[in-house]
Amino acid sequence: MRKPPVVKDVVRRFMPGVHRLVVSVRQKRAREACQRYVAELFAPEDEALRSLRREMAAAGLPEIYISAEEGRLLQVLLKAVAARQVVELGTLGGYSAIWMARALPEDGRLITVEREPRRAELARRYIARAGLGDRVEVRVGEALQLLEPLKAAGPFDAVFIDADKQNYPRYLEWCGDVVRAGGLVIADNAFKGGQVVDDTVQDDEVRGIREFNRRLARDPRFTAIVVPTRDGVAIGVVN
Ligand SMILES: C[S@@+](CC[C@H](N)C(=O)[O-])C[C@H]1O[C@@H](n2cnc3c(N)ncnc32)[C@H](O)[C@@H]1O
Repeated sequence: MRKPPVVKDVVRRFMPGVHRLVVSVRQKRAREACQRYVAELFAPEDEALRSLRREMAAAGLPEIYISAEEGRLLQVLLKAVAARQVVELGTLGGYSAIWMARALPEDGRLITVEREPRRAELARRYIARAGLGDRVEVRVGEALQLLEPLKAAGPFDAVFIDADKQNYPRYLEWCGDVVRAGGLVIADNAFKGGQVVDDTVQDDEVRGIREFNRRLARDPRFTAIVVPTRDGVAIGVVN
């Protein structure tokens, strides 16, 4: 005997728009739950990271730092290439710098670049509090101006790009010169909140990210992919 239709079947058949909405809300909840699951299992924060987040919020800094699971992803990548010499473009309060520095050996070195002196100062304080002052150097200034002199400190095992998006293509060019073969170019915000695939958005930042992704994908010097984290992390290995 045929079973009577349940509400869900009626909605699917007669209200396909509502049905799609319900499915997408359910999928979004499941994705967020999985993200929390991964963060709790693989990337628990210690007090140093938690208190830095609290202080950044109290200082009114924007919440534009990486997530804990992206921090863990950076650590996995740096360990995979046995990184000792790393550069970060865009320090903010030092949250990602602390994650990365913890993946370096004792004689490893992270140079991180920030144009806002107040942010650099906060980062220095928290990096020292995390016991990483000897491994991390915060340089203050415009990244494009600091990159040329920084070449002398290379070659580098990895560069993490997380500064102004319009200059991502230039930063990639620099990486092509200073990252060793087998080393990594990593960049946050490869999706720019989904705007990379929205043709109606044509501002300089989104154009910068699109151009960066295009070059990273096509340039034969790199083997690359974007990992679909919260906002996309682009990862390129130098061939
Ligand atoms: C997204 S935040 C960095 C977040 C940090 N990597 C983290 O996850 O903890 C970007 C930072 O880059 C800095 N910045 C942006 N453009 C820059 C430039 N051209 N030179 C140096 N710093 C820059 C900003 O002041 C901001 O603090």
